[in-house]
Amino acid sequence: MLSKKVEKALNKQVNAEFWSAYLYLSMASCLEDKGLSGMANWMRQQFSEEQEHAIKLFNYIIDKGGRVLLEPIAKVDTEWKDALEVFKATLKHEEKVTAMINDLCALAIAEKDYATESFLHWFVDEQVEEEKNAREIIDVLTMIGKDGYGLYRYDKELAVRKTE
Ligand code: FEO
Repeated sequence: MLSKKVEKALNKQVNAEFWSAYLYLSMASCLEDKGLSGMANWMRQQFSEEQEHAIKLFNYIIDKGGRVLLEPIAKVDTEWKDALEVFKATLKHEEKVTAMINDLCALAIAEKDYATESFLHWFVDEQVEEEKNAREIIDVLTMIGKDGYGLYRYDKELAVRKTE
């Protein structure tokens, strides 16, 4: 049994995860448009992962006897100047998601809902990974700078990312 507060907050997170999926698909489209299909592939994988996050929450709400109410997905950005800007926006977004997960954990503890708190630990760990991945790509893209061939090579490297 979930408290109304926790149920509402988890539902909000379902929407946020689908919004994240939508954002990364939009980034994939922008990167494809710039001829960076390897980085677009990375974003397509990210799109799939975010949907998995949403479904994980969806299933948990149901397992706990709650009700999932799907809300509309808000509009996402469609244009970024270059690959570096795309991944900077990714990191900024993931930092925001981390704060949302932390707020959810704090709420679960305040409501003495230790099952939800335990469930959320997976997301806490996942956010460390999400931020790290974006930070690493930003570092490489910063090193590459305006070196077109370097960008071409790195794009090929990111083409092989597969969702675990
Ligand atoms: Fe679902 Fe990228 O956090």
